[in-house]
Amino acid sequence: MSEYLLEFDGVDYSYPMATAPALQGLSLRLPKYKKTALIGQNGCGKSTLFLIADGLAKPDRGTVTLDNVPLKFDRAALQRWRQRVGLVFQDPEQQLVAPTVAADISYGLFNQGLSEAEVAAKVMQTLADFNLESLAMSPLQHLSLGQKKRVSIAGVMALQPELLLLDEPTAYLDPVQTRNLLLELEAIAKRGTTLLIATHDLDFVYQWADWVLVMERGQLVAEGETLAVFDRLQSLPDFKLGMPILWQMWSRLSARMPAVPAPRSIDEFTKYLENYRSLTDPPA
Ligand SMILES: Nc1ncnc2c1ncn2[C@@H]1O[C@H](COP(=O)(O)OP(=O)(O)OP(=O)(O)O)[C@@H](O)[C@H]1O
Ligand SMILES: [Mg+2]
Repeated sequence: MSEYLLEFDGVDYSYPMATAPALQGLSLRLPKYKKTALIGQNGCGKSTLFLIADGLAKPDRGTVTLDNVPLKFDRAALQRWRQRVGLVFQDPEQQLVAPTVAADISYGLFNQGLSEAEVAAKVMQTLADFNLESLAMSPLQHLSLGQKKRVSIAGVMALQPELLLLDEPTAYLDPVQTRNLLLELEAIAKRGTTLLIATHDLDFVYQWADWVLVMERGQLVAEGETLAVFDRLQSLPDFKLGMPILWQMWSRLSARMPAVPAPRSIDEFTKYLENYRSLTDPPA
């Protein structure tokens, strides 16, 4: 069995009428059971990659496989694929289909062929998990953008896909809802869901991801374990997204530190500083 779940090999994709391709020879691998982040500038092709990974757009060239099984575009194959792969769109308006919050969450569950009682139980649980109980009967058009985003995430997570693709999941969320989402994601990662998140928040990526993919102009320019990727990006002259704050602080201090792995959280960072107090002491 492969250690990678989703693989792209030489994928090209152009939108109808577009002057330039959105993806050009894109090859990548997504490690199973890991938390992967996808980063890259606006327009580099992240959302397009997601549409293809969920079978919503067909590559002009190249192959996409899930556990070595190629993506096919007949109805039955697509249905099976989408039972395994869940996509949360960047724009929640594109995702939500039903008149109310509860109806929207139940929509996908009914499509999975669950009984009415099973659907009702899962909807209740999902509303509770995502703090949406008070909005259950609200019409979707009355919700704020952040609330819509939460409903769209809840609706996909309720389906418990094997691979969960989230396009900018924390965009529009306030800090409380962001923390809640991260706890939910942590719990489902522990249950064995493979996660891919596209985001512009490099501080989040640095602390959260096991693996990082970096795109530029429709291609992959770096992939690998988080620390190794940021170390490499720093030396790429064309990389313009900046670096995570923790990484920057550590890179300034590390020459004076013993050779230890770079800290990936504020807690770890503080521990290092406490252990190596001499750093902050004035020279004798
Ligand atoms: N529906 C569309 N029709 C034509 N071109 C499109 C369409 N959607 C995206 N594109 C183009 O495809 C390229 C990749 O867009 P994509 O939305 O995948 O980028 P992205 O990395 O998700 O950007 P962002 O960080 O802004 O979300 C861009 O050049 C964009 O202009
Ligand atoms: Mg996008």
